[in-house]
Amino acid sequence: MMASALSLTATAQQAAPQLTETNIDEVVSAMTLQEKAQLLVGGGHQHFEGSGAMMGHQKKLVAGAAGITVAIERLGIPATVMADGPAGVHIDGQREGDPNTYYATGFPVGTCLASTWNTELVRQVGEAIGDETLEYGCDVILGPGMNLHRNPLCGRNFEYYSEDPVVTGLIGTAMVQGVQSKGVGTSPKHFAVNSQESDRTRVDERVSQRALRELYLRGFELMVREAQPWTIMSSYNIINGVYAQGNRDMLTTILRDEWGYKGIVETDWIGKREKLPTEQEVKAGNELMMPGFPAQVDDIVKAVNDGRLDIKDVDRNVRRMLEYIVKTPRFKGYKFSNKPDLKAHAAITRQSAAEGMVLLKNAPFTKPNAPQAVPVLPMKELKTVALFGVNSYDFFSGGLGSGCVNVPYVVDMVQGLKNVGVGTTPLLTEIYQNYVKYARAKLKADKNPAMWFLDQGQPKLDEIEISERCVQHEVGEADAAIITIGRQAGEGMDRQIEGEFNLSDIERDMIFRVSDQFHASGKPVIVIINSGSVMETASWRDRADAILVAWQPGMEGGNSVADVLTGKANPSGHLTMTWPIAATDHPSTKNFPTGYDMYTYTSMESWGMSIPFVDYVNHEEDIYVGYRYFDTFQKPVAYPFGYGLSYTTFEFSKPKAVVNGDYVALEITVKNTGALSGKEVAQVYVSAPKGSIEKPVHELKAFAKTRELKPGESQTLRMEVPVRLLASFDEAGSQWVADAGIYTFSIGANSRDLRCTATAKLPAYTEQVHNVMAPQHELKRRPIAHFAG
Ligand code: BGC
Repeated sequence: MMASALSLTATAQQAAPQLTETNIDEVVSAMTLQEKAQLLVGGGHQHFEGSGAMMGHQKKLVAGAAGITVAIERLGIPATVMADGPAGVHIDGQREGDPNTYYATGFPVGTCLASTWNTELVRQVGEAIGDETLEYGCDVILGPGMNLHRNPLCGRNFEYYSEDPVVTGLIGTAMVQGVQSKGVGTSPKHFAVNSQESDRTRVDERVSQRALRELYLRGFELMVREAQPWTIMSSYNIINGVYAQGNRDMLTTILRDEWGYKGIVETDWIGKREKLPTEQEVKAGNELMMPGFPAQVDDIVKAVNDGRLDIKDVDRNVRRMLEYIVKTPRFKGYKFSNKPDLKAHAAITRQSAAEGMVLLKNAPFTKPNAPQAVPVLPMKELKTVALFGVNSYDFFSGGLGSGCVNVPYVVDMVQGLKNVGVGTTPLLTEIYQNYVKYARAKLKADKNPAMWFLDQGQPKLDEIEISERCVQHEVGEADAAIITIGRQAGEGMDRQIEGEFNLSDIERDMIFRVSDQFHASGKPVIVIINSGSVMETASWRDRADAILVAWQPGMEGGNSVADVLTGKANPSGHLTMTWPIAATDHPSTKNFPTGYDMYTYTSMESWGMSIPFVDYVNHEEDIYVGYRYFDTFQKPVAYPFGYGLSYTTFEFSKPKAVVNGDYVALEITVKNTGALSGKEVAQVYVSAPKGSIEKPVHELKAFAKTRELKPGESQTLRMEVPVRLLASFDEAGSQWVADAGIYTFSIGANSRDLRCTATAKLPAYTEQVHNVMAPQHELKRRPIAHFAG
């Protein structure tokens, strides 16, 4: 009896089909409902072992990876591994009882990469990230971050590319293509409208269909159509009353039916949701629930058995999961090395970071004994500098939270300058270095268990006060002062205006004291901004002779800054977001919650205290985000969208615009008219004829970057602007509309420095889409005159 039961099981085992690329339907038919439900739910939280969230039978495959999909061994379905990005592979650098290290390269954060405006370079960075994903045994990297910078206070802006959807879409496309060329997947995130961290899992983002289509979805659309990521991550938040993760209109009607998406959708990392039934997520076309909790498996099984969920919906999602799995290195049995070429990737990060840095100011400066004033940078003859600011010595590679990378090292400013032969004043260096050691140790000792994010990146250490006497001493020793102003931000925390967007009093005093005394001695002051996103500059910028936005440029940061300061790299980065004079200048600030801190409130909740709740946010500003607002209503800004200086100068020829079927072909020649080699970006801003829909004064529709041009050298850049990209969204007709008439293509070096124009006459264009995702509430959209006034 016993023997025959065993042989029966053995026969069933043998008869079970083993997954191949061509037998997916057969495998789906062979799966039990329980197995199907398991495949749609991840294998538990991988970051927090012991949190009780791990599915019992699943092994931890790569330490520190964010999640796994479950294995169903009976059918030859392997588990697959998903590790965080986007600035590199987020896994543990060390493993218990293992002498090897698993550090990954910290690449430049999203804002820095986008500021290169160099899709080819971003693709190369993507290839390097893809290679590390593969060689560290992961199948998917959770990135790129593609939310828009609706407001400068969003804590995760550093992970995102821009306030503009075309920059976001084209840079995102290059990144996805680069990573996926290595045979691993990406998960562009967070789909969609995850433009704030405050109460991100519960907030209802109330936004017009037009702003959704033209801004918040458009970057994803451009990327999906061109690059077909293997996965997309649906965001925690609600959009117009419906959770993104259970939003069939967004995840199926728009994403698949309209854009032709073929991959899977996975949720952002949240458990069983209180107010969103699991079956609604399945029906919506959310294939994978991450990180995955056993209760969600039960939910799916129950919902099918009770008739609340059609098995056809389950099967469709399971099929898509299997289509994803057969592409993965794990399925293909790839033997990963755990030894990516970190040296080669360090060179890529050093160069790409230097190209993303943005020179905001480079004023003429009369050096001692020099006949005339010349721009202070590059400083080829620099010997010794006085380095002020804690972040000169604790340089930020990247931001906080899931987007951080466990890096083998970070090159700080002392090391970076030393590597190009520039010394730093010994006493000041020693004081700061000792302080940094002390402050790091103190931070560790004071660690509050609720503040797990302190292990997730480099938190900001308090700035130290710099006295007049200290500066006096340093002036005598140094040829120049460099002040690094650092800003840190990350997951779960939006930024505050005071002390974060704005300077703190200590920082202001430091800049003023240093500039007073160095200038009095005829020595220049350079400010390095080591921040993933925008900060206030207008109140202090005249104190600095040069200002370089270094962003959070990855682990080679100090080297990249030194390359730019000394002229080894000629800066060619341009801002991908407006730098306003005050944070409140953005119309969205009025509707941007501040003062919410997930970590404090998480502890408050666990102590039984009630927590504040940002229940909804009205996007009253509608499409007037970033330069669309500032340029249309001619508001002053500190630095406009697209801004960035070079050590050389460029001239743009008269462009040509030719209509060629469904796109406009543009051609422009860029000439280096200065004395140093360099690269330039041609930014194409289009103004539409006056027609049926009110539009911003101009919108970026294409860009291209030259190769490194020698003095006197030129290059002709060719760009194609699809006509459908010129259309605006007409809510009344649920259609994209471009009016017939003359379109002006202005090409310039930033949104307020348009150098030349071409025009093209276009017939009317319309494209009907679905009437979905409409707001359910009045958005209190203000009359335009309000903003303009
Ligand atoms: C973040 C995602 C991240 C995921 C996994 C979430 O909290 O929002 O960006 O990929 O965690 O770590």
